[in-house]
Amino acid sequence: TEQTFIAIKPDGVQRGLVGTVISRFENRGFKLVAIKLVTPSKEHLEKHYADLSSKPFFPKLITCNGPIVATVWEGLDAVKTGRSIVGATNPLASTPGTIRGDYALSMGRNVIHGSDSVENAKAEIENWFTAEEIISWKSHSEDWVYE
Ligand code: GTP
Ligand code: MG
Repeated sequence: TEQTFIAIKPDGVQRGLVGTVISRFENRGFKLVAIKLVTPSKEHLEKHYADLSSKPFFPKLITCNGPIVATVWEGLDAVKTGRSIVGATNPLASTPGTIRGDYALSMGRNVIHGSDSVENAKAEIENWFTAEEIISWKSHSEDWVYE
């Protein structure tokens, strides 16, 4: 099954939204397979956001201003559905009901990160977790989430 990398950014941690974000992914039916609280280095963030290195806001993006919660979620179409739970990058476009649409007002304080493709999800999971940190387990609710 598909996996996606979801991180609660420093603003989300500071605002006490860790539980909310985790609940939304759990409630949708996704299975948590990895989680940790980390304060990433500049180098780590540089690697994570490498595709945005030419953007004017890049220096800010790679300046770590607090701990983040890194997670990996597994389930049907986890990447695309995960992005729809996260919501649009621009707060003007993020629909109520999405995490950003419910909790964010600015681009640089948008609470959460979600992988945007299966390929990027693989690379991001590798960048944030070792293979041993990804836990394979059988959820008792699986038979009731999927028919
Ligand atoms: P992520 O899930 O964090 O990757 O966001 P995204 O995929 O919705 O957007 P993108 O990958 O294009 O940008 C990564 C992050 O850079 C965004 O989540 C924002 O926090 C930040 N960002 C993107 N565009 C802007 C911008 O125009 N201004 C500022 N200040 N930040 C931006
Ligand atoms: Mg992105």
